[in-house]
Amino acid sequence: FYVDWDIVTAEKAGFEHFMLKEIHEQPKAYRDTMTSRISSEGDRVTLQEIGMTPDEIRAINRIHIVACGTAYHAGLVGKYVIEKLARISVETDVASEYRYRSPIITKETLVIVVSQSGETADTLAALREAKRCGARVLAITNVVGSSVAREADDVITTWAGLEIAVASTKAYTSQLIAFYLLGLHLAQTLDTQTPAYIAEVITALKELPAQVERVLEQADQIKEFADEISTHNDLFFIGRGLDYAVALEGSLKLKEISYIHSEAYAAGELKHGTLALIQEGIPVIALGTQHELMEKTISNIKEVKARGAHVLGIGVEGEDELQKAVDTIFNIPRTLDLLAPALSVISLQLLSYYASLARGNDVDKPRNLAKSVTVE
Ligand code: G6P
Repeated sequence: FYVDWDIVTAEKAGFEHFMLKEIHEQPKAYRDTMTSRISSEGDRVTLQEIGMTPDEIRAINRIHIVACGTAYHAGLVGKYVIEKLARISVETDVASEYRYRSPIITKETLVIVVSQSGETADTLAALREAKRCGARVLAITNVVGSSVAREADDVITTWAGLEIAVASTKAYTSQLIAFYLLGLHLAQTLDTQTPAYIAEVITALKELPAQVERVLEQADQIKEFADEISTHNDLFFIGRGLDYAVALEGSLKLKEISYIHSEAYAAGELKHGTLALIQEGIPVIALGTQHELMEKTISNIKEVKARGAHVLGIGVEGEDELQKAVDTIFNIPRTLDLLAPALSVISLQLLSYYASLARGNDVDKPRNLAKSVTVE
């Protein structure tokens, strides 16, 4: 009797690639990262792993978020989230740049390093520099006991589980969940938001896992658009505010595994140069999940449409305005604007996945890239 036991196939649990499996593990990663940190009444966040006292938190006068790659993009969302919820000024830097620009780091600076692996050399070097300058360092990492986790003062672990595909998916989104929790934790301590608003955000956070399932159920719609873009060599992502941060991550994901060149632009900045590249038939992916910015985003969509772009809009269910302005629409379920990145990015992960597949690439092991980069 002979069993053809292929361990790799078994680990993929029926999915064609690790990336697709990991995309589908996101509802669980969201739950695992948030559940034990939300009070049973659903009105407060408790981050017991943060050793800072309320007085120490009140003494923070600026925050630096430092990371590489996808984790850097999570840090861009983190900046919006912390500034909005806790009203502390935040700068987000690429780790390989941070050390060399003589950043202003004092004892009142909180430096947050974000690293899935906890071993990225640039991030680790930035952490050490921050500590040398006397800052308190908080790490957001997916690997318990990693170098970053060991050297930081406080650690928020993301419970995404092992991530194998080089292109990060569930690690990125659980970093977003960590930032939402941290933003709420700081807001509670600093009294910058009402208890009612904090409870509203928590309620919406708890709805996210089921909403991610609904996005995944509509993967076929995204696949159609992915097949279409797979024949192109250039395309653009546009968005404003949090949508811009997500656009950057969508563009990176697409480059990494489909090898299609793309750029992400803050939609309002297009007219200052990049609009010259928009010609007949070029695909543009326009994110429009932020209500206050909708009118402005739509006018930017009209600018690219007028020059012949074929626009895929990523919007929110029940909003017709964006739908009318674009050629094809994909809607995420309704949530707070602040939390929209945790849903919209799923559609962009699927877009990259299917575009890579259509091009016959090695989805899980893209050329020239490594899962963890331990050289500077
Ligand atoms: C590598 C990976 C990226 C990742 C980056 C940072 O370049 O290919 O997917 O975003 O490292 O990794 P980290 O483990 O620090 O989050």
